[in-house]
Amino acid sequence: MVRIAVTGATGVLGQEAVAALVGAGHEVTGVTRRDRGIPIIEGRGARAVVADVFDADDLARTFRAHDVVINTLAHVPVDMTAMRPLAWREDDKLHLEASAAIAQAAARAGVRRLIQESTVFLYPDNGSEWIGEDEPLAVRDRAFRPRVREMRAAVDFATEGRSAVILRLGQLFGRDPQTTHTLQATRDRKAVLLGKPENYITLLHHRDAGRAFVSALRAGSGFYNVGGEPITRERWAKDLGREAKAKGPAKFIPEITQAIVGTRLEVQRRSLRVSSVRFMSETGWRPTIGPSTPGWSRM
Ligand SMILES: NC(=O)c1ccc[n+]([C@@H]2O[C@H](COP(=O)([O-])OP(=O)(O)OC[C@H]3O[C@@H](n4cnc5c(N)ncnc54)[C@H](OP(=O)(O)O)[C@@H]3O)[C@@H](O)[C@H]2O)c1
Repeated sequence: MVRIAVTGATGVLGQEAVAALVGAGHEVTGVTRRDRGIPIIEGRGARAVVADVFDADDLARTFRAHDVVINTLAHVPVDMTAMRPLAWREDDKLHLEASAAIAQAAARAGVRRLIQESTVFLYPDNGSEWIGEDEPLAVRDRAFRPRVREMRAAVDFATEGRSAVILRLGQLFGRDPQTTHTLQATRDRKAVLLGKPENYITLLHHRDAGRAFVSALRAGSGFYNVGGEPITRERWAKDLGREAKAKGPAKFIPEITQAIVGTRLEVQRRSLRVSSVRFMSETGWRPTIGPSTPGWSRM
């Protein structure tokens, strides 16, 4: 049994992580900034604590007597509002400031391991070539600075016998707001997908993401890709159509519109055929729900 504190515990990822950790027999504390987050965390079987994720002193008190901290904080804008740079302000602040405060507080509180959520979207478009963890990231644009700083904060934590595991998660799918929006657009026959049909996408169901945080407890320090078997976007379009019970596959946004979506959404146009072999062989984790698993949007 390990004592684990989870930040972002009321979010899409955090709730799955908490449930999976509790299910695996660990003692879990979920962190939320507001009272209304408490029943959500307790409903997943964990203890809830209200704390400010930008305040390292508050966090250090919260993290005391924990062995591991897992940071799943994010605030990703849903649908095409993500085209507006200002829509990412909160998400940026979480990755730039809260992640650094969490890593510092964890070190001060004597925590031995930090598990930090990250993303495969920082990899470059690699066509049909596989992408491993050693692939250089495409992060020269300022928009990616928060995610780079966050990784650095986690790497800096991993000194003096401490370990840091950075999970580069595939595109999440399941019951979450973004996928729900995509399924509804597919039913309404509205164009919703970015990229080209022949491009690759690496998906990760929320349930499998939650289980990945449990597996990460036994991984050595380092970066790990976490996703299912990559598929073409054409196949994803068909899977969405089937799951949505729509009249056809999900539709692609016309190229001319895709050209102006901006830096933040440009990453979703990239062909990302990401290999998770390192994480699977190190921890034994395996994806269990794929986009062709019937009923995945209700699991
Ligand atoms: N790899 C991926 O594809 C990926 C990664 C992440 C998210 N997403 C998608 O993005 C959509 C939104 O999910 P999300 O996880 O970003 O959002 P979320 O579930 O709304 O947020 C996660 C948690 O972060 C905390 N939080 C959010 N904004 C905060 C702020 N300004 N200050 C302090 N805490 C804050 C909240 O906790 P409290 O309110 O309890 O404090 C919240 O529960 C989903 O559809 C999800 O699947 C995708």
